[in-house]
Amino acid sequence: MGIGGVAVGAFGIAGCNSSGPRRDGAPSTNPSSGGDVGQDYSPPEEVRSADGRLEVTLVAAATMVPWGSGSRYALTYNGGIPGPTLRVRPGDTLTLTLRNDLDTPTNLHTHGLHISPSGRSDNVFVMIEPGAAYTYEYVLPEDHPSGTFWYHPHHHGVVAAQISGGLAGAIVVEDELDDDPAFRSATERILVLSDPQVGTDASVLDVSAAQQMLGREGDVVLTNGQVRPRGVAKIGTTELWRIVNASASKYYLLSSDAASMHQVASDQGRLAAPIHVPQVLVAPGQRVEVMVPLVVAGTVTLSTAAVDRGGMGMGGGMGGASSAIAADLLVIDVTGPATAVGPLPASLRALDDLAAFTVDRRRSFTLGAMGMGRGAFVINGKSFDGARVDTTVAIDTIEEWTITNESMMDHPFHLHVWPFRVVSRTDGADPDPGWRDTVNVAAGHSVVIRVVFHDFDGTAVYHCHILDHEDLGMMGVISVV
Ligand code: C2O
Ligand code: CU
Ligand code: CU
Repeated sequence: MGIGGVAVGAFGIAGCNSSGPRRDGAPSTNPSSGGDVGQDYSPPEEVRSADGRLEVTLVAAATMVPWGSGSRYALTYNGGIPGPTLRVRPGDTLTLTLRNDLDTPTNLHTHGLHISPSGRSDNVFVMIEPGAAYTYEYVLPEDHPSGTFWYHPHHHGVVAAQISGGLAGAIVVEDELDDDPAFRSATERILVLSDPQVGTDASVLDVSAAQQMLGREGDVVLTNGQVRPRGVAKIGTTELWRIVNASASKYYLLSSDAASMHQVASDQGRLAAPIHVPQVLVAPGQRVEVMVPLVVAGTVTLSTAAVDRGGMGMGGGMGGASSAIAADLLVIDVTGPATAVGPLPASLRALDDLAAFTVDRRRSFTLGAMGMGRGAFVINGKSFDGARVDTTVAIDTIEEWTITNESMMDHPFHLHVWPFRVVSRTDGADPDPGWRDTVNVAAGHSVVIRVVFHDFDGTAVYHCHILDHEDLGMMGVISVV
């Protein structure tokens, strides 16, 4: 029986070992036993396009992966956690064959890519049965932004289980912005963050109804499948961390003990200029890129703090939904004689001022968790139905959406295909500096976004990226015509 498959008490947050998550919202720490603590940082495998093309096969399968002195049950692409990093350029054609060796249906979504949602492209209505294979063909437009994106399964009903099982990988889009000497000389590290439940059989994927409603969180926090990996670097160099929140529900509040950390990109690529960030919140589905100049010898650590993301029911009667595990995610040993660090780029790219754009249409979306049963997670009062179109948009328009969270826990709202900017928010968080595809809507608050519906028509979805909530129905269908 899997350790993580056991529901603990009525509140149902998994975690049997004493150092596991606590239910009171106070931080707990990553278990220091059982995992491969302090392994050498090793980047995910990588495949890179050449001459405008990349062809890759991913095999999704259940596997035992190394864990401490033993092994643990996981779902993997090509045997690894995460799956291989796909490195492409604007204008590229990515031909990806997914073979399903799982015992449940699956499919693939390229989260954040601005590509067609139709046909063999980023079409989440495709279903690949166990034993079957399917070939996707993704064509990136010539002006696709560079940045950090990711891929994961999207078969409604099993998304949380498959992703928390381990099915995720990074996609890096590079363009001429990456030729800036400050980027070329930086030490790039891909950091795919996840928090699986640890155990030795498929029961790690089964969680209680309460855990689903709160959004499942795991027993440990991993970086590229490792517990607190260690890297080495020289003084005078700059680290570029491409960070993906691939957890089903866990929020990360990232900070570093380095002299400074500068955000250079969010979900949809580079910001206008680097921003000094003491800490940065990364909700499920979101990405962030930060640069960290290494100015003194010693260690530099990237860590995440506990995040209170609300609760369920009257007076939190269903328990809190805290992302309770505080953990070190990466340690860099910095050595060598002291040298000056090259400057960060002064500016990165011009960002359109969306406030000056003409809004063609306004809409509101209400996120709600109604009642106590399954299927109670709704957008505008409706639970997901793949056969119903909820929102029809005219192509080549700009819409302003007000997304209001009427429930008692946070929901990260995600829209496929068409990027947006955050115009305003009532939760007091800093206005988002760049283009996004996922925005956290705090409990009881609202966020106003402007979405640019350019380039692609077709049918796609928007949903809560707490993937249990998506599986429970907090998803709608959008058709751009
Ligand atoms: Cu990363 Cu529809 O999701
Ligand atoms: Cu997506
Ligand atoms: Cu949600």
